[in-house]
Amino acid sequence: MYILGIESSCDETAAAVVIDGRTALSNVVASQVDLHAKFGGVFPEIASRAHVEAIAPVVDQALEQANVSLDRIDAIAVTRGPGLVGSLLVGVNYAKGLAMGAGKPLIGVNHLEGHIYSLWLTEPFDEVVFPVLILIVSGGHTSLILMRDHGNYQQLGSTLDDAAGEAFDKVGRLLGLPFPGGPNIERAAAEGDSLAFAFPRVKTDNDFDFSFSGLKTAVLRTATIPGAKRHMPSLKPDVSVPDMAASFQRAVVNLLVEKTARAAQEFGATEIFLSGGVSANTLLRQTMRAKTELPVRFPPLRLCTDNAAMIAAAAYHRVIALHEGDLAAISDGWEMDVRPTWLLT
Ligand code: KG4
Ligand code: ZN
Repeated sequence: MYILGIESSCDETAAAVVIDGRTALSNVVASQVDLHAKFGGVFPEIASRAHVEAIAPVVDQALEQANVSLDRIDAIAVTRGPGLVGSLLVGVNYAKGLAMGAGKPLIGVNHLEGHIYSLWLTEPFDEVVFPVLILIVSGGHTSLILMRDHGNYQQLGSTLDDAAGEAFDKVGRLLGLPFPGGPNIERAAAEGDSLAFAFPRVKTDNDFDFSFSGLKTAVLRTATIPGAKRHMPSLKPDVSVPDMAASFQRAVVNLLVEKTARAAQEFGATEIFLSGGVSANTLLRQTMRAKTELPVRFPPLRLCTDNAAMIAAAAYHRVIALHEGDLAAISDGWEMDVRPTWLLT
């Protein structure tokens, strides 16, 4: 089954052609990172406009690189949510037009389910034993999800404020590092002492929820000159950026790993999967492996961040596992709308 995937939920315009949820013939990603760098975060209106410009060439490129025509495609899968409403609308409307014009089934996909199935794009997963514990950590999401079977999810916890990647991005900005903060903090941290600063740990009512805004405020208080403008803080002269980056990274990683390992144990998970942009972080990968005896898997770096191959893969597994391969049964109607706050259930 050939599925064309389309993704535009945040700041990447992406399209991919995937066979049987496994083999990506193409996986084109147009990143807007340079456009948003000067704002230190994703600027929604600019993101929507950039998607409008990029979407047609990106989809054409995905078909070209895969060396298939639209005729050969069995279904078009598109991210319906969660994400930025203006960004989602560009992908969904483009996918609708394409599907309607070519007479193809249209499948709306949950972006988080996409991140989960990014794992299936590279691992021989035919015999996964459920339940599996999944930690999705990205610029927009921090979710602990128990996957009981294909298409069967229980959200155990999520962030109450900033997403983990967002915390990396905001702290990166405080420390004067370029956007996105995650990879740049990781780079700076390599030269720093992770025990130089101890940050407070925020307690949440639900043990599997996360909160990162207190950590960000702690960095602000410790590293910057009091009274400086919040959006333009100045670093104290005696603060070591590598030490601060390393200490912050350690605090985030420890929080993520501890809750994930505990949830895996409590719910009897057989494996732990990490996905999303922050799962590219080496300390997170290493610490997770060190702190649990369960197998820990993560996608290769290029599939950690937003892409459309994972959207096509999620659609495929939904068709097979929940609808016995019947594309007509899973297809969404032309009235399908975006769902900016869609929970994965
Ligand atoms: O999955 P993704 O591309 O976008 C969303 O769906 O949000 O994730 C992007 C996020 C950014 O916040 C970025 O700072 C973070 O992932 N990130 C990292 C690393 N690489 C990317 N965070 C920590 N360490 C990294 N190596
Ligand atoms: Zn994402």
